[in-house]
Amino acid sequence: MFEPEKFIEEKIAWLRRAIGDAEALAATSGGVDSMTTAALGHRAVGDRLKVVFLDDGLMREGEPQEVLRVLGRMGIKAKIFDVKDHFFSALRGKTDPEEKRKAFRETFYRTFADIARELGVSCLLQGTIAADVVEASGGVKSQHNVLEQVGIDPMERYGYRVLEPLKDLYKPQVREVARALGLPREVYERRPFPGPGLAVRVLGEVTPERVELVRKATAIVEEETEGLPCFQAFAVLMRDKATGVTEAGERKYGEVVAVRVVKSEDAMTAEPFPVPWETLRSIERRITGEIPTVTHVLFDLSSKPPATIEFE
Ligand code: XMP
Repeated sequence: MFEPEKFIEEKIAWLRRAIGDAEALAATSGGVDSMTTAALGHRAVGDRLKVVFLDDGLMREGEPQEVLRVLGRMGIKAKIFDVKDHFFSALRGKTDPEEKRKAFRETFYRTFADIARELGVSCLLQGTIAADVVEASGGVKSQHNVLEQVGIDPMERYGYRVLEPLKDLYKPQVREVARALGLPREVYERRPFPGPGLAVRVLGEVTPERVELVRKATAIVEEETEGLPCFQAFAVLMRDKATGVTEAGERKYGEVVAVRVVKSEDAMTAEPFPVPWETLRSIERRITGEIPTVTHVLFDLSSKPPATIEFE
């Protein structure tokens, strides 16, 4: 039986020992894993924990503002770094999913190295959880936040230590810890969002325009599925276009967007969520109506395995 209070006590003591008298850095994306990590760090060393938010240009609509609002409610002041250019230039021209993931990971850690140097910090707290480690170690995909398990020493490569207080927990336990720490419900009930953000939901090359398209489609899917008890609901921009027709009867070669809604406990396996037909129709009407370059909307019926939850 998992006991969140005991876990919190142990991890706070562990973080205090590991950080010592130094200062540490935590990056948060607003997700339950990174928010819980930042909250643990804050409890452990107070203001000696510097919290930063990287605006990488790959977040959902309104996400940076929302994250800062929630952090504010938790009494944590975060510094924002606008690093969109770093990420878009690292991803430019890359189409292979693993190459894209590795480019994201490298940019993520290098950006931190710059920030850590600027703030004079040599220790990074990170919200890696067990599912991330299992998938990266098994070679399924290069998670943005897994280094040591795939043979990369962060100190040697980037010049700082990485502390991962949640790395033995799966998502349901992280939610329990977040709740026990008093984090707002919107944090501990939040649907997961991948570290590399919309970059893994734009198949093929990631450009600001293609990210903007998937950002709009994602907002529609999230709004339309808001009350559904699913694990995740999102849109993905396919790599190829498909033929469509305008109301005036003209040919239109348009974008193809897939909609994925899944149920899952811990992200290790998943099944398609039975979305009501009317909701699906409304998603389709809104995506093609509000994003005129889209001609086709598909619904993904696959389970994990053989698919994974994200397309890349
Ligand atoms: P997959 O696609 O591997 O996803 O079935 C399992 C869960 O993990 C999320 N995901 C990630 N989370 N960094 C993260 O922090 C990543 O690189 C990453 N890739 C996938 C995904 O959204 C799902 O919840």
